[in-house]
Amino acid sequence: MEDRQAVIIDGKALALKIRTEVAAEVSEIVSKTGRRPKLCVIIAGDNQASKVYVRNKKKACEDCGIESETIELDGSITKEELFDVIDRKNADKSVDGILVQLPLPGGIDEKEIIARIAPDKDVDCFHPVNVGRVFTGDPVFLPCTPAGIIELLKYAGVTIKGANCVVVGRSNIVGKPVGALLLAEDGTVTTAHSKTKDLKKVTGEADILVAAIGKAKFFTKEYIKPGAAVIDVGMDRDEEGRLCGDVDFDDVVGICGAITPVPGGVGPMTVAMLMKNTVKAARIHG
Ligand code: GUN
Repeated sequence: MEDRQAVIIDGKALALKIRTEVAAEVSEIVSKTGRRPKLCVIIAGDNQASKVYVRNKKKACEDCGIESETIELDGSITKEELFDVIDRKNADKSVDGILVQLPLPGGIDEKEIIARIAPDKDVDCFHPVNVGRVFTGDPVFLPCTPAGIIELLKYAGVTIKGANCVVVGRSNIVGKPVGALLLAEDGTVTTAHSKTKDLKKVTGEADILVAAIGKAKFFTKEYIKPGAAVIDVGMDRDEEGRLCGDVDFDDVVGICGAITPVPGGVGPMTVAMLMKNTVKAARIHG
């Protein structure tokens, strides 16, 4: 019988520490240049979850001393109208970062919209140029959620070098880029997904497991190698409508070595890394 108790990795505390460091950097930039870093967040339609995320980003900007502007657009907006908004913000020298909250209303090609953002203002690190830089190992910005995951692992004292890292999920926002960052840290990376054969066998060999599939409490202890570090990227709802992750926390906590909770794990780190990217953009813009 296992009675090991996992380390709960406190993403909220680490995010707060990073945001405090960012605030100090912002003060330094303002006193040196007389200009305050600025983030422009664009949201179209009324996806409730997106509205919460956008509100969190605005609040984080306030806490860090970053100026923010939220542009709320109707769900019926066309691609051309959205292009016009992005073009104006690309040309606006007071704006350092532009973020288009996803998902976009139906019918709008997200890839085309992302590609319209000036790469030097792409603080989400979604533009193909910035994604390419991440994969070739010379990034300008780091993708927010994946970079937050690396920070969480380091904070928990988890060794990535040589570790068997299994990422489950292959999205452009999380699965693919977190694989690239783990590889850059000398991890041995496997990306698994819905078509993977014998998923339990694959994840059962993971020293580091990143769960990013969007299925509530999917990963039970049968999927976990004893002592593994488990990073839960899920933002799901359980049968009672409560926020939970892709990992069955209560089932897994007794067997893994370290685990991120939901909420309070990866989520706050994504926002903290966005703040870091915005400061990076401000430094580039001088
Ligand atoms: N939708 C879900 N996650 C994200 C994110 O990190 N950035 C943006 N822009 N949209 C999202």
